[in-house]
Amino acid sequence: MKKLIIAIDGPAGAGKSTVARLVAERLGYTYIDTGAMYRAVTWDTMRRGIPAENAEKVAAVARAINLHLATVAGKTLVKVDDTDITDAIRTPEVSRQVAEISKNGGVREAMVHLQRQMAGLGGVVMDGRDIGTHVLPGADIKIFLTASIAERALRRWRELTDKGLAVDLAELRAEIACRDKADCEREIAPLVQAADAALVDTTDLTIPQAVEKILELCEARTSVL
Ligand code: CDP
Ligand code: CDP
Repeated sequence: MKKLIIAIDGPAGAGKSTVARLVAERLGYTYIDTGAMYRAVTWDTMRRGIPAENAEKVAAVARAINLHLATVAGKTLVKVDDTDITDAIRTPEVSRQVAEISKNGGVREAMVHLQRQMAGLGGVVMDGRDIGTHVLPGADIKIFLTASIAERALRRWRELTDKGLAVDLAELRAEIACRDKADCEREIAPLVQAADAALVDTTDLTIPQAVEKILELCEARTSVL
């Protein structure tokens, strides 16, 4: 059977990484979390003390980064050189800064180049903001995964509280809304539903239900390929 290229885009907290990873697992495909790549570049600029305004230096960091992604036991492990930054890229500091770094044209060019290499000949599920519109416009399946802002904020809040972190729900919601706005309004490859993407609203869907829905879309697509 043809190995598909599946692109999943959408705003923060819609369930993209969880659902994309499970779909990849079910199909025996590789999962690629492109948000983790932008987070890794952001982490690298922060540790070097390079401000987002210094566009040239920020882009140079993205071009030089030695990034490794792997899915192990249901988690995306991220390394820069030999340093494991899996948890370091999820801190509130990185979350606040990542949309600003992701606006940088040089950063996007470097990441898109890597992402296209990673997608190779197929058998991949890639999630992000511009996968169906820009990175892999020829993807076999395009999904725009979304959910209400209230539900997305609540999901993130639960996730962080489960980890023992004290977070304010209203603040979290404001931060997510602010990041969504920046992602939707940036000049280069903004977050927008591709004309040929299927809209999947997960507000009232459990994770298994969202996974099944996407697998059904894959099956329907495979039957016509
Ligand atoms: O997990 P969450 O939805 O919070 O975000 P993420 O997928 O880890 O992505 C973090 C940030 O990276 C996004 O808010 C975007 O600013 C940027 N990003 C992007 O610009 N393009 C992508 N393909 C993926 C992420
Ligand atoms: O990658 P993205 O930011 O779109 O979302 P995620 O990190 O996959 O999901 C955010 C949180 O929502 C996780 O804790 C998921 O377990 C949860 N989730 C959920 O409760 N119901 C869904 N249908 C999808 C995700």
